[in-house]
Amino acid sequence: MRKPIIAGNWKMNKTYSEAKELLKEIAALELNSEVEAVVCPPFTNLALAKELLKDTNVEVGAQNAYFENSGAFTGEVSPVFLKDLGIKYVILGHSERREYFGETDEDINKKIKAVLSQGLVPILCVGETLEEREAEKAQEKVETQLKADFEGLDASQFENIVIAYEPIWAIGTGKTASAEDAEEMCAFIRQHVENTFGKDAAEKVRIQYGGSVKPNNVKEIMSKENIDGALVGGASLEANSYSELVNF
Ligand code: PGA
Repeated sequence: MRKPIIAGNWKMNKTYSEAKELLKEIAALELNSEVEAVVCPPFTNLALAKELLKDTNVEVGAQNAYFENSGAFTGEVSPVFLKDLGIKYVILGHSERREYFGETDEDINKKIKAVLSQGLVPILCVGETLEEREAEKAQEKVETQLKADFEGLDASQFENIVIAYEPIWAIGTGKTASAEDAEEMCAFIRQHVENTFGKDAAEKVRIQYGGSVKPNNVKEIMSKENIDGALVGGASLEANSYSELVNF
């Protein structure tokens, strides 16, 4: 059985002081322990999050990492630093990183390997643009990303990998993919993992949907067979709404 995983992607939101408030509220929530709850604040709030959530089951994730462990890479953050802080998850290849910061599938592939080698769990984001969906090229796009991003990985690693299907047109727009469309793509992703890495890898890998997930649509999305979780931006920035998401 795959444990459901609800992860809040704070993106570039919350100062240290604001994060302190929100994390204290999150620490006081009653969250369903059968669901893995994760928060992914900006780097400047990661140590704070670890400290304030230490007596809870809420795990902490980062929003990016570099693929080298140390050295002359001004401005980058190493997976070793994240590991040392007790971080468990690292979001990689988010469409905003691909689009605004020029991250390529080659970079993302190196980052996945670097993160896995530290025992951290990557949350790999894939997804199509609206034009690609309208041209019926959504599956082709996602498959191209999966092939390149997972190049050279081993079947046994999929137990420690999360994939987030995030159609770009649904992120921050209030437009959600229908639960059926989300399920169709997540099933396609699982089939791709099975074809490439085998049945066991496909059964173990957890697949999230992301893109305008809210308390009022999370239950329907989570009812789908191939959807094991959600990656949530906007609706994860407020404690009550975060609690409704985790306690779907
Ligand atoms: P959203 O963002 O929930 O605000 O649409 C999701 C994401 O980008 O991970």
